[in-house]
Amino acid sequence: MKLIFERGKAGRALSILPPLDVPECLPDVPGRKTVPHLPEVSENELSRHYTELAKQTYGVNDGFYPLGSCTMKYNPKVNEEAAALPGFAQIHPLQPEHTVQGALEALHTVEQELCEITGMDAMTFQPAAGAHGEFTGLLTIKAYLKSRGEEHRKKIIVPDSAHGTNPASAVMAGFTIVNIPSGADGCVDLESLRNAVGEDTAGLMLTNPNTLGLFDRNILEITRIVHEAGGLCYYDGANLNAVMGLARPGDMGFDVIHLNLHKTFSTPHGGGGPGSGPVGCKAFLREFLPGIRVNCKDGVFHMEHPERTLGSVKAFYGNFLVVVKALTYVLMLGREGIPEASSNAVLNANYMMRKLEDLYDMPYPDACMHEFVMSLERQKHENGVTAMDVAKSLQDYGIHPPTMYFPLIVHEALMVEPTETESKETLDAAIQAFREIFAHAAENPAEAAASPKTTPIGRPDEVQAARKPVLRYSWPD
Ligand SMILES: Cc1ncc(COP(=O)(O)O)c(C=O)c1O
Repeated sequence: MKLIFERGKAGRALSILPPLDVPECLPDVPGRKTVPHLPEVSENELSRHYTELAKQTYGVNDGFYPLGSCTMKYNPKVNEEAAALPGFAQIHPLQPEHTVQGALEALHTVEQELCEITGMDAMTFQPAAGAHGEFTGLLTIKAYLKSRGEEHRKKIIVPDSAHGTNPASAVMAGFTIVNIPSGADGCVDLESLRNAVGEDTAGLMLTNPNTLGLFDRNILEITRIVHEAGGLCYYDGANLNAVMGLARPGDMGFDVIHLNLHKTFSTPHGGGGPGSGPVGCKAFLREFLPGIRVNCKDGVFHMEHPERTLGSVKAFYGNFLVVVKALTYVLMLGREGIPEASSNAVLNANYMMRKLEDLYDMPYPDACMHEFVMSLERQKHENGVTAMDVAKSLQDYGIHPPTMYFPLIVHEALMVEPTETESKETLDAAIQAFREIFAHAAENPAEAAASPKTTPIGRPDEVQAARKPVLRYSWPD
């Protein structure tokens, strides 16, 4: 496909723009010596360009998107309508409080709802993503430890099944990492945890259900061990879609959590956001939270900075319109709909897993939560078929690949998360595709290795693409 720079012609422009009646380039723009070289296209060309681009991408609106750990669920359009209301979309963060009472009420309500769902007492909406939430949550723990003169607690315990952002965030927040292994059942190895905790333990970061799609059956014992050692428990809530309305991190013993509103609470994501990773905490940590929190006195909403706030991690209230979408979603689903959504997410994952387990190896064969992990390790040894081959073949069936080669502790891993928003017909079609791919790949591994055949790009050199991306157009001389 042609780039926008390769379309159009000098002098062509959008018909809606009036003729140029100013100098082409301001002579005193610092550093600019020549007129900027920009594409010159008609409105028609521009529109076709973006339509063509859109056709080359794949999103949840195109088809099944079982990308494990990402909860690519359908995003109800009503969320967009609510977020587009002028009272939300066209206000300014510096407006006087009395002119934005509705927006403040929305923030106050969503905080109450999400605290109820998670078992927390307070929440900040400043962080803009899950990893940003982790960083913020860890800074909150750090501020708390400092207030108690316990700055010697520098170690954060992270199980080997953790999402990669967990150790990265902890290091960024100034902690060191203690990695502990999972047991054969995929849950935290309790003995290793007991050996890891000590006087230097700042806390534990845990995802539950974990990235193997398993709910840790020892969760109460885990949080007890960490608390007894004087550490705090951080819950990576990116997988909340499996348990919302059914089990609460606060009741499991966690002190701090983040949520991924752009996953569980149905805001479109991928491609760089905007997202929202609010951080919730128990009452004893409330005073350290960053940014502004909304309080209500006599029916009037006020903005307040927590007493010993750690500062700000983003401007104002974070990505406010994403928060409005989450609020809309929560209120739409209500008390019955929230647990039903999670139950269906778990049901769909188990349905797919059971329909595939006779062909694909499931390293953790017990009932899964919202996602499950398969391994192509045996096939790789037997006939050279890899997880990558299966994932790429799915694209020829119009299905987005699952997560590949993650979690790291499973070799040749494919992690499938169907979500609750897919119909049985879609799941059956995907199961059929997985089964056909398995059979074809066994018969003809070379063909599987050459897939996909129907996409604009087949198999790019991923290392080159990641290390040396070409992001800038060079005009021909
Ligand atoms: C378990 C888990 N934790 C944290 C994150 C990080 O979230 P974000 O991508 O919004 O930074 C993810 C994202 O995929 C995740 O799956």
